[in-house]
Amino acid sequence: MIAAIRGTHDILPGEVEKWQYVERIARHLCDRFGYVEVRTPVIEREELFSKGTGETTDIVQKEMYSFTDKGGDRITLRPEATPSMVRAFVEHNLENALASAKIFAMGPMFRYERPQKGRYRQFHQFDVEAFGIEDPAIDAEVIDLAWSLVTELGIPQAELVINSVGCPACRPKFQEALLAAVKDDLSKLCGDCQRRSVTNPLRIYDCKVPADQAVIDALPHSVDYLCEPCATHFTAVKGYLDAAGIPWRQSHRLVRGLDYYTRTTFEILGQTLGAQNALLGGGRYDGLVKTLGGADRTGIGFAAGLERLVLALPDAAPIAATPRAFIVAIGEDGRTAAWTLLRSLRRAGLAAQMEFDARSVRAQMKRADRLAARVTLIVGGDELARGEITLRDMVTGDQHAIAHDAIVETVRTYL
Ligand code: HAM
Repeated sequence: MIAAIRGTHDILPGEVEKWQYVERIARHLCDRFGYVEVRTPVIEREELFSKGTGETTDIVQKEMYSFTDKGGDRITLRPEATPSMVRAFVEHNLENALASAKIFAMGPMFRYERPQKGRYRQFHQFDVEAFGIEDPAIDAEVIDLAWSLVTELGIPQAELVINSVGCPACRPKFQEALLAAVKDDLSKLCGDCQRRSVTNPLRIYDCKVPADQAVIDALPHSVDYLCEPCATHFTAVKGYLDAAGIPWRQSHRLVRGLDYYTRTTFEILGQTLGAQNALLGGGRYDGLVKTLGGADRTGIGFAAGLERLVLALPDAAPIAATPRAFIVAIGEDGRTAAWTLLRSLRRAGLAAQMEFDARSVRAQMKRADRLAARVTLIVGGDELARGEITLRDMVTGDQHAIAHDAIVETVRTYL
């Protein structure tokens, strides 16, 4: 037996219905908010991510699935959607091609991480991006979409955390203050933090080592170093969230693991996921479109992990299977009549099945039970000769005869 690769999984019936439910709600929300779907390739040039996601990130340094293809090009299985969405925005001039450059995507992403609950090597994102709008109202709209997703899915105890990481004008001052503060306490921090202080000091805020927490909590807050335009922007975003009644908590530790963020960053945390508690994360990336060869356009978006949304769904999520009819055929005459009835029901838009191999009525009824059929239609015998069939209500056990030309409409009332 050749098993699936570590960190990947098959999504089987029983589970896949939850995925379809989450995807349905996500698509419906995008439709209501005016975001249109874009499907980009799973493979891209490696440099899209080294430039876009950023050379100093863990993703680019340690986690990418990259290879040289037969033509000698360096190819990467996308670890996130944002650089691809930016590439598509620039490559197809979506700014002009679309009424508004608000797009979403859904699909598999790949990161060579250590697998654990909520963290996989192939996982799936629902990704939302809005380009070219500077006004803080778009930050609030994107956060509203994210918050609506989590609340409409009924995920309990979700928490929205926000922060502002400033812009290239004000970030250097903050980073200087951060380095100065870290230097004083460097020897008290773990080895990872000491390494990060050289490679990417912002990552120190992500440290989960308990002994480091007191020092990290006392490190500078990026919001205290914002330039006037960044501060005004952040205040406006919070004002819009308050006006919408969306609860938020501000955390100076929310600096996010990707290099492109400017100004607003946010995450929604779930309470049932253990260590991998971010249901989704995102923020503004006002320099990325230009970095990737486009015009100087702003961007903001987020991505939700579909595995994590599915894990966090409440037990009571309405994921009921489609109610269906099952047709039981008696004798060879009954089989042909059953087959034509099966087609009539399906063509009328109803879900219907029958058993092809098992011939005994008992075996057919057993199958109807396993499929949890709502009604069973018994075709054959004397009724068939009279132009009738027998309908059995599988919930109450009641049975009655129905005239052949009334079957479809009668079944419809049950399904
Ligand atoms: P990210 O925080 O790296 O951001 O990932 C977003 C979400 O994807 C996470 O909150 C999590 O739910 C899910 N996720 C990430 N890695 C894994 C994994 N290994 N296994 C399972 N789920 C995972 C981004 O990817 C940005 N592109 C988000 C963004 C869009 N920013 C602006 N626009």
